[in-house]
Amino acid sequence: MHGPPASGPSSGLGLSSIGMAHLRFSGRIALVTGGASGIGRATALLLATEGAAVAVVDRDEAGALATREAIEAAGGRAAQFLCDVADSDEVEAAVTAAEKALGPIDVLANVAGTGDSATLADIESLEDERWNRVLAVNLSGPFFMCRAVLPGMASRGRGAIVNVSSLAGRSKSAGGGPAYTSSKAGLLGLTRHLAFDYGPRGIRVNAICPGGVDTPMIRAGAANLATSPDESEMFMRRVAAYEFFMPIKRLSSPEEQAAAIAFLASDEASYINGVSLDINGGLFMA
Ligand SMILES: NC(=O)c1ccc[n+]([C@@H]2O[C@H](COP(=O)([O-])OP(=O)(O)OC[C@H]3O[C@@H](n4cnc5c(N)ncnc54)[C@H](O)[C@@H]3O)[C@@H](O)[C@H]2O)c1
Repeated sequence: MHGPPASGPSSGLGLSSIGMAHLRFSGRIALVTGGASGIGRATALLLATEGAAVAVVDRDEAGALATREAIEAAGGRAAQFLCDVADSDEVEAAVTAAEKALGPIDVLANVAGTGDSATLADIESLEDERWNRVLAVNLSGPFFMCRAVLPGMASRGRGAIVNVSSLAGRSKSAGGGPAYTSSKAGLLGLTRHLAFDYGPRGIRVNAICPGGVDTPMIRAGAANLATSPDESEMFMRRVAAYEFFMPIKRLSSPEEQAAAIAFLASDEASYINGVSLDINGGLFMA
C-alpha cells in the first residue's frame, strides 16, 4: 500500500492556512444565464460568495435585478442583463455588455431553460411552435452563449463552461414531453463536442443532469405551462410519484445543484472535461 503522495494538495500547509477563506473564484468573471430564479440564482449567489464578479443574465429583468442586489448586499460584484437566450443577437449583445461591465468571462453557466409539461400530448399533437420554442431555449440558447464566449476564452487559454441538462437528457423526462427530453439530450452532445474541440485550448466543458429540483419550474411553472387542468393535475401527480421513487426521498434544493456547477467550474475539477454529472439522488443510476 502506498500513502498519499508527499506533493499532494495537503502537504506544505502551515497552521496559518487554517481558517483562511477558500475563495475558488477570486478575480474571476462568471456569466450565469437563468440567474433570476431557481438553480441559476443559487449559482450566481454561490459563485459571488466565492469571489466571482457575476453577470446575471435572464429574460426576467426584475428577478435578475433582485439577484444582483442580493449579491451586492452581501458585498459582492454583479451586473444584470436582460436577454432571451433563444435570440442570438440578444446573446451577442449581452455577452459584449457583460464583458464591458465586468471583464472577460472565465466561467459560463448555461442554466436558463424552459419546461414543457406536455404530459398528455404525444408526438402527434406536439405543434411545431412548441417543439421549436423548447429546442430554441434549451439547446440553441447554450449554443449561442458558447459561441459568444469561446473565442475570448480560447484567446486567453482558459475557461470553464457548465451546461445544465437534466435527468431527461440521460434517460427521458418524467414530467415533460419529447421536446424537453430531446433538447436536454442534445445539450449533452453539444457539451461533449465542445469539450473535445476546446480542451486543447485550455477550456473545460461539462454538464450537470439534475433530477427533480424544488424550483418554480417544477412547481407553479409547470402548472402554468400545462395546456389544461387535466394536464396540470397529471404533472403534479408525476412529481409526487417522482419523490416516492427517489432513494433520497425529497426533491433537490437549487443550492445542491449550484454546488455541483461551482465544483465543475472551479480549478478543483481541472481534469474533468466532457462529463454529464448526474445529480438526482439516485433516481436514475447508470
Ligand atoms: N427544476 C427541476 O426539477 C429541473 C430538473 C432538471 C433540469 N432542470 C433545468 O435547470 C435549469 C434551471 O431551471 P430551474 O428549475 O432553476 O427553473 P426556474 O424556472 O426557477 O429558472 C429558470 C430561469 O431561466 C429563465 N429563462 C427561461 N427561459 C429563458 C430565456 N429564453 N432566456 C433567458 N432566460 C430564460 C427564467 O426567467 C428563470 O429565471 C433549466 O435548464 C431546467 O431545464 C430543472
